[in-house]
Parts: sequence; C-alpha cells; structure tokens
Amino acid sequence: MANITIFDHPLIQHKISVLRSEDTGNKEFRELVKEITMLMCYESLRDLPLKDVTVKTPITETVTKMVDGPKLAIVPILRAGLGMVDGVTSIVPAARIGHIGLYRDEETLEPHEYYCKLPPNIEKRQIIVLDPMLATGGSAIAALNFIKQHGGKNIKFMCLIAAPEGIKALSEAHPDVPIFCASKDEKLNEKGYIVPGLGDAGDRIFGTK
Ligand code: PRP
Ligand code: URA
Repeated sequence: MANITIFDHPLIQHKISVLRSEDTGNKEFRELVKEITMLMCYESLRDLPLKDVTVKTPITETVTKMVDGPKLAIVPILRAGLGMVDGVTSIVPAARIGHIGLYRDEETLEPHEYYCKLPPNIEKRQIIVLDPMLATGGSAIAALNFIKQHGGKNIKFMCLIAAPEGIKALSEAHPDVPIFCASKDEKLNEKGYIVPGLGDAGDRIFGTK
C-alpha cells in the first residue's frame, strides 16, 4: 500500500479549489502554490528531530529545543516545481536547493532530463522533492532515480495534486519514499492530464499559455 498523506486541512482544501479554477490568473496562482506548499511543508516536517539547547532569556537560563539532525535539501522538478520553492524556504530558510530539469514528451508522456544539480553531501540530507503534479509518475520516478544514484536516501515527495495512476507507479518504484499531497484526483485523461486537475501547472505558474 502507498505511503501517502493527503492533507485535508480546510485552508489547504480551500486554496486548492481556487487554484483549480480557470478564472485564477498567473499572479494569484503563484501565490497560492507558495501558500499551499508552506502549509504542507509545516506538517510534513513534523518528524524533524529536536535537540536540547541552552538559551538565556532576559529572565533566566533554560534548556529548550531546536531542530537537530539532517540538514534539509529541496529539489524542485523544473519547471513547475520552482513554484513551490519559496513555500519551503519561507519556513526553512537554510534549506539547500537542487534542481532537476525534466519535461514530458507530449506524445509518449516519457520524461526527458535536461538539467540536474544537487547540493553537496546529499547522502546526509533530508530531501524533499517538489512538483505540483503527479500524473503518470514518470517524472517523479526519474527524479528519484537520479537522486538515489547520487546517494540520496532520506527522501520525501511533495506534490499538490496526484492521480491514482501516479501514486501507484511512484509507490511501486520507490516504496521507501513517502508521498505528501493536497488532493488525490479522479484519473488521467487520454492526454495524460489529471482530471479534474488544474491544467498545465508550469504554464499557469509562468504564464506561458
Ligand atoms: C509536468 C509536471 C510534472 C509532470 C507530471 O511537467 O510539473 O513534472 O508534468 O507528469 P508525469 O507524472 O506524467 O511525469 P511538464 O513535463 O509539463 O514540464 P514543465 O514543468 O516544464 O511544464
Ligand atoms: N502535468 C501538468 O502540469 N498537469 C497535468 O494535469 C499533468 C501533468
């Protein structure tokens, strides 16, 4: 069974509905992608380890908690994953950022790689791969293959909208990678678009159509 968390928080569901609407323009679309990612990131990092630190307040010295353990790396899948980066860095400003450039061939739906660059010591980092759309799963699987070939181990995949076909393919190919999403939609159409979905995420973020 897939290791998947679907965020049912009312604020996330509300923002996803506005995001889906064809009446939502590029500026608002970008803002919503950032806000939803921030809310999802907050919850999906709930398992971050903590360590005790000593802090001197104006009143007294006390032992309190700070985040410990692996440093975070986020890896957006270009282009559309770029829209999610600010949502993570607004709450984890120290996160390192890698990039994986993939585009889907519109006929075959196969992913094609055109750029990859990961932060150093990737094997020691908690990695979150970002892409708003999980459709056939081909792009996510290729990105995770690449990261693992370069030593990445501790990986989460975060998307906004996922199709059942993509969830199945991704969790079969990478059962160790938990999936976080805001909506599991109905299906893919004959062109590989998610139904009801939100259309082409990259085009809506960057205003290219
Ligand atoms: C979209 C999306 C994913 C991919 C999902 O990117 O951002 O990367 O499709 O589809 P899949 O699960 O079937 O692989 P696209 O290839 O359109 O490129 P873009 O982000 O540059 O627009
Ligand atoms: N990529 C998108 O941007 N939208 C879809 O519905 C499927 C893949």
